[in-house]
Amino acid sequence: MPLTFPDGFLWGAAGSAHQTEGNNVASDFWALENRPDAFLPERSGDACDSYHRWPEDLDIVRRTGLNAYRFGIEWARVEPVEGRVSRAALAHYRRVIEGCLERGVTPVVTLHHFTSPLWFQKDGGWPSPKAAGRFRRYVRAVLPILDGVEWVCTINEPNMVAMMAAMLRRRERTEAVAGAMPPPDQEIADALAVAHRAAREELGARRGLKSGWTVANQNFEAADGAEGERDAWAWSREDQFLDAAAGDDFVGVQAYTRVLIGPDGALPAPDGARRTLTQWEFYPDALGNAVRHTAARVPGVPILVTENGIATSDDAERVEYTRGALAGLHAAMAEGADVRGYLHWSLLDNYEWGSYRPTFGLVSVDRETFARTAKPSARWLGRVARSGALPEE
Ligand code: BGC
Repeated sequence: MPLTFPDGFLWGAAGSAHQTEGNNVASDFWALENRPDAFLPERSGDACDSYHRWPEDLDIVRRTGLNAYRFGIEWARVEPVEGRVSRAALAHYRRVIEGCLERGVTPVVTLHHFTSPLWFQKDGGWPSPKAAGRFRRYVRAVLPILDGVEWVCTINEPNMVAMMAAMLRRRERTEAVAGAMPPPDQEIADALAVAHRAAREELGARRGLKSGWTVANQNFEAADGAEGERDAWAWSREDQFLDAAAGDDFVGVQAYTRVLIGPDGALPAPDGARRTLTQWEFYPDALGNAVRHTAARVPGVPILVTENGIATSDDAERVEYTRGALAGLHAAMAEGADVRGYLHWSLLDNYEWGSYRPTFGLVSVDRETFARTAKPSARWLGRVARSGALPEE
């Protein structure tokens, strides 16, 4: 029996501004990539040139049969200098939103996806007492172009932002799965929650707009007897951010893999575990379990799967993973989770925060010409979307 999803379910793909646009020169991450002593293997550079090629990206979304597209607005483009708003940047993003609406594609807009303007970072970043006010002012500047937009993600993975901040402070880069990272910088975690609430207040002015933030769900599984350690580990790295979504219009679930927690913290993946290009354990059940966890943690808050996918050079493996993830999602929904849509990460093979090697895309991008080529997985997901059902194998 095919597994049927509800009518009106969103089926889409996602990307972020910095990972796709290219030449995001006023951002803090650009500065980090381009330091003379850069410790990141690759720079984002032109990325996928989506700042110019977005109509092509949207055409691909529509042609494959998907009905939603998650993309980012880059704060550093909208406000490259403190207090100076670029009308041209706002007009650009308005065209992208209209491009979605004209094609019958539901836009899911992210306002902050890891990167901030360099001036913001230099002048205290998130711990600054001015941070929430600055974010609020940016959201207020963007508000007029959000006409017709129903779904807005304020801050992408605040838990990752706060964990990465703690790591960057020590100038480390890790191949470790996010959930195995040191705990977040609590000062930043708190500041992000305040900024999120400020953003939601501004966004509340627009009727019909739903806002929420998206949380990296890491499926912390306790080894025998380590339940207490697991819960403490999960609270700082995930659950406090889910709790902060109570009362929001929705919460974004982003899930890729799981992390085992023993008495002394994160354990490596089990011996012989199948791994992806990011070295994460191949674990399609991550999605269903993450949705169950979030639904239990913030009951009554609708869920949108804002990211799920796999870094692999074998596209058949992408289909295998996604099929498993969608079956798990369907099961979680059958148990009562209120899930409104599934957005695959990612539409394009985009910049993976330091490297182009881990390819998550449904669509490949030629690094010289930027030519896009839809992979079989894009057509497969498009068929699922069109029929609203996961077919039997
Ligand atoms: C982020 C994306 C990233 C993806 C895969 C998520 O943590 O939101 O920007 O590319 O995971 O690592």
